[in-house]
Amino acid sequence: MRILFLTHSFNSLAQRLFVELTARSHEVSIEFDINDEVTTEAIRLFSPDLVIAPFLKRAIPEAVWRGRVCLVVHPGVVGDRGPSSLDWAILEGEREWGVTVLQAEAEMDAGPVWASETFPLRAAPKSSLYRNEVTEAAVRAVLRAVENFASGAFRPESPDLSRTRGRLRPAMRQADRAIDWAQDTTERVLRKIRASDGTPGVLDPLCGGEYFLHGAWRESRLRGGEPGAILAQRDGAICRATRDGAVWITHLRRKGSSPELKLPATLTLGASMPDVPEAPVADWNEIHYEERAGVGYLHFPFANGAMGTEQCRRLRAAYLDAVERDTRVLVLMGGTDFWSNGIHLNLIEAAASPADESWQNINAMNDLVRAILDTPSKITVSALQGNAGAGGVFLALAADQVLARTGVILNPHYKSMGNLFGSEYWTYLLPRRVSEAQARAITQNRLPIGAPEAKASGLIDDHFGADVPGFASEVRRRAETLASDPRLAAMLAEKSRVRAQDEERKPLESYRAEELERMKLNFYGFDPSYHVARYNFVFRVPHSWTPLHLALHRRNVWEAREASSRAQAQGS
Ligand code: COA
Repeated sequence: MRILFLTHSFNSLAQRLFVELTARSHEVSIEFDINDEVTTEAIRLFSPDLVIAPFLKRAIPEAVWRGRVCLVVHPGVVGDRGPSSLDWAILEGEREWGVTVLQAEAEMDAGPVWASETFPLRAAPKSSLYRNEVTEAAVRAVLRAVENFASGAFRPESPDLSRTRGRLRPAMRQADRAIDWAQDTTERVLRKIRASDGTPGVLDPLCGGEYFLHGAWRESRLRGGEPGAILAQRDGAICRATRDGAVWITHLRRKGSSPELKLPATLTLGASMPDVPEAPVADWNEIHYEERAGVGYLHFPFANGAMGTEQCRRLRAAYLDAVERDTRVLVLMGGTDFWSNGIHLNLIEAAASPADESWQNINAMNDLVRAILDTPSKITVSALQGNAGAGGVFLALAADQVLARTGVILNPHYKSMGNLFGSEYWTYLLPRRVSEAQARAITQNRLPIGAPEAKASGLIDDHFGADVPGFASEVRRRAETLASDPRLAAMLAEKSRVRAQDEERKPLESYRAEELERMKLNFYGFDPSYHVARYNFVFRVPHSWTPLHLALHRRNVWEAREASSRAQAQGS
């Protein structure tokens, strides 16, 4: 079938649906929801059998939904309507939530239902639920809806709204999210922030300013002081007292500041940060290590998978400590939402010299990759519980084995960030796994890749697990089996032999120097594309057109025009 995605952006859910549908031989083209005329033009150019809206912020134009079936993915149970579905579900402590695929009609989210799914609502931030439970449920529901549509026999029904659990809810306001520090329990504070994370955060007066709070974690040891007071700090996060305990807040965004960026809390507070002690131990840890049955596991759940200069340095130090341990296998677990998304673009944007900070960050990242490549004493495994993008994917490829949860999406390319050349030794790491043609396609096509496709091309070694807990327990089983494998010594010897041979052929330092030469031009050269693309990314500047690598219907027209003008030129 020809399927047009009409979407606000090509976000993680749209990417996953794209991967699932193209793997089933559907022809999928993408149009960003920019304005009604552009949408109507896309319909005319592509003439789709079906329109799917994975992530929309506006209603679909009437001329479009009257002309063909348009399926909207709504992150709520049947009958639920409104723009703050997940926010209300989390705030009100729903135990079960869902995804509904409904047909667009005049009233938003109120059309006939083509498929729906439910899932237990985990105590987690909205963005984490969206990237895990909502995405998995949406994939199941959309695939069923597409089958229903293809059958031609399915008649979707409008639910009897007087009997559904879901109902019309207004957009959640800051007043609904506001924390009353004197009254709210830790649980309530956590719930309010989780219902608002990653956007818009909870607006809260703090240290004489107004800040949006992001990234809340319960703290069980620290307590005392006035509710709301800052008790301690750790790795850029602040610990605040509640009436019955304490919470860590990892990130803040200062209202009305320029730039208004989500940054580590202590950095955002700057000179307003009170003089509080560093907490040596805490329930919230950006990096933690555990060990069992001869296997070390290094977790690094950095917010949004973004890894700043200091985070790369701390992770490298933790990695080197883990290498010293008496284990045979070391598993790099990343975080459950993201494995890594490469250098930290927000921190770079906020730096006095973004070019210098980019340089420091990529060098710190490269030092980390280098440490992983220089590990003769252990078999290293990257275990991708969550998605990875740009340099984050190449960081994963530095390990001896790369495993991913089946639903993981990889974006192993830098080009979308203003033609960034990229480093992380990717010019060494990618060709050792895939053919030259595949490497070119991966880096130039700029399309998301699902774990099954990544395995088929050799980019990763294996994928399994329907969800994060299932994946993590299979990773543990495999790592323990590997650690007790009698062939391990031979495997390590072979690893050292191959590394020495590769080094002989071309030293790792040469790969690094060549990549950094190109990166220097990206950061300091005349072409400002990277700085512009980064600015647009971190400030979420709306797209003014859909990139041609996504809009198949526009690319086809463009290619046809190019061919005809070439033919004309040859004829004249
Ligand atoms: N630095 C800082 N923040 C980053 C980031 C990075 N490298 N990568 C992602 N984020 C943030 C986003 O700003 C967003 O923040 P929010 O909390 O305000 O929502 C959040 O992570 C999720 O990103 P989003 O783009 O919405 O997620 P996605 O799953 O739809 O897309 C990617 C995933 C990887 C395709 C996309 O995030 C991306 O292109 N990231 C940039 C990768 C990059 O170019 N890195 C630098 C070169 S190594």
